[in-house]
Amino acid sequence: MTIDPALRESLRAASRVVALTGAGVSAESGVPTFRDRQTGLWERYDALELATPEAFARDPSLVWGWYEWRRAAVLRAEPNPGHRALAAIARAVAHFALITQNVDDLHERGGSVEVVHLHGELSRPYCGECRAAYRFPDAAPALPADGARIEPPRCARCGGRVRPGVVWFGEPLPARPWQLAVDAVRRCEVLLCVGTSAVVHPAASLVDLAAHSGATVVQVNPAPTAADRIVGHSLRGPAGVVLPEMAASVWGTR
Ligand code: OAD
Repeated sequence: MTIDPALRESLRAASRVVALTGAGVSAESGVPTFRDRQTGLWERYDALELATPEAFARDPSLVWGWYEWRRAAVLRAEPNPGHRALAAIARAVAHFALITQNVDDLHERGGSVEVVHLHGELSRPYCGECRAAYRFPDAAPALPADGARIEPPRCARCGGRVRPGVVWFGEPLPARPWQLAVDAVRRCEVLLCVGTSAVVHPAASLVDLAAHSGATVVQVNPAPTAADRIVGHSLRGPAGVVLPEMAASVWGTR
């Protein structure tokens, strides 16, 4: 993949760069995306039965079991060259912010610091009643069977049911990460939009905000997305290939 020389120069000159990532950046680590045909989680599972507050109230052990299955799978996954390239770009740019919709920790394990998680984190459950943080036991969980029901733990403080630390459909985004994201995107000169279908709002509206604020928007994705109408440059390919090449060619990382 060759990057257009004019684009390369404008990326190199930028001192404020933001990356907005989605499930596609973890696909090459073996973590399934949501909407890819055949392999996407929402192709195989019903989001309304698993990812809403009503679903958890109705069938907590089904929902907790599903998130435990995802957490166990993520713990067995390794960061890929795409995650590592973003960490390398962060070291090369004066002001860099990494905003992710992902609930895994592969950016952190790939070397990124201060990752802004818009949709929460699998590793940070909390009490559904009093919101006290719950700490998982240190030992990695056994990989539950697909569809296994697991009773959620109880809160040590109030006895309430512990819930997954992710944002469900119908819930607002956590206020601080969202504010950090808006502030960073409003000021950035370059937005790298990586591995997201850009259909889930408000996260997807960050792409519009960047474009309207005058940033150069570069998309990295093997397939067309809802952001195609607004991005200035589309680099078609898997993040694990395109990002390392881009990082080396623009910022001289290796
Ligand atoms: P999606 O599953 O909607 O989109 C994944 C995107 O990744 C698609 O555009 C794919 O083409 C692209 N993709 C696949 N493999 C890739 C690769 N190797 N490199 C780069 N891109 C690749 O996932 P998100 O956009 O992250 O929300 O979904 C947004 C939100 O919807 C998620 O955070 C989740 C879900 O419901 C919550 O759980 C709240």
